Amino acid sequence: MFNVAIDGPGGAGKSSVAKAAASLMGLSYVDSGALYRSIGYVLSKTGVDLNAPSAIEEKLQDMELELFYQDHAQHVLVNGEDVTAYIRTQEAGNGASKIAVLESVRNKVNEVIRKTASSLDVIMDGRDIGTVVLPDASLKLFITASSEVRALRRLTELEAAGKPHGDLETIKREIEERDYRDSHREIAPLKMAEDGVLLDTTDMKLYEVVYQVCRLIDEAREKRT
Ligand code: CDP
Repeated sequence: MFNVAIDGPGGAGKSSVAKAAASLMGLSYVDSGALYRSIGYVLSKTGVDLNAPSAIEEKLQDMELELFYQDHAQHVLVNGEDVTAYIRTQEAGNGASKIAVLESVRNKVNEVIRKTASSLDVIMDGRDIGTVVLPDASLKLFITASSEVRALRRLTELEAAGKPHGDLETIKREIEERDYRDSHREIAPLKMAEDGVLLDTTDMKLYEVVYQVCRLIDEAREKRT
């Protein structure tokens, strides 16, 4: 398959870029973070403490995780329930980052997303896609921006979606806490793949990033032929 991996910290705009590039370049977009968010959401809804590994591991044993597409949009099913509408909140993102430190959680997610990437040409975003999940991807991108700009982008996203959110300073603090946890965990920490391409989008508009990414995808496709 032709696969594109995008990694980078929260709020950098990875998912907006990946969605646009997917539709322009004929790829399926896989949002790996949505699976971590979904697991965290369901666990906390059922009263599990997201800081308690043994309670999480017990619940995971009989948890069914699935991914499907409807009108080109990714949906996540946990134990048969579509939780997609509930996971794009700041709270779900923070919860996802807490449980993503556990190997059992990562294995559960990786099984689902690797299966998808083996049957579709995907553009997949996350924290460890180029380094761990798809080390043979045809193109590996690392998309980042300053934490100020990322907090502002996240605030705009939450406002536009009518989701609850704190003020800019709170969002920036949460983003920095998440960056720290994601980059310092023992398993699959956030980092750029050795053969990755760095895109610092701090001073870039979304369309400029999408343009660059599509150009890089074209080049990677040409190299393969
Ligand atoms: O959209 P945003 O970048 O804020 O977050 P996300 O991609 O939805 O991911 C939420 C959390 O899941 C991250 O902070 C990571 O802790 C975790 N995650 C991960 O560990 N590995 C991935 N491949 C994707 C997400």
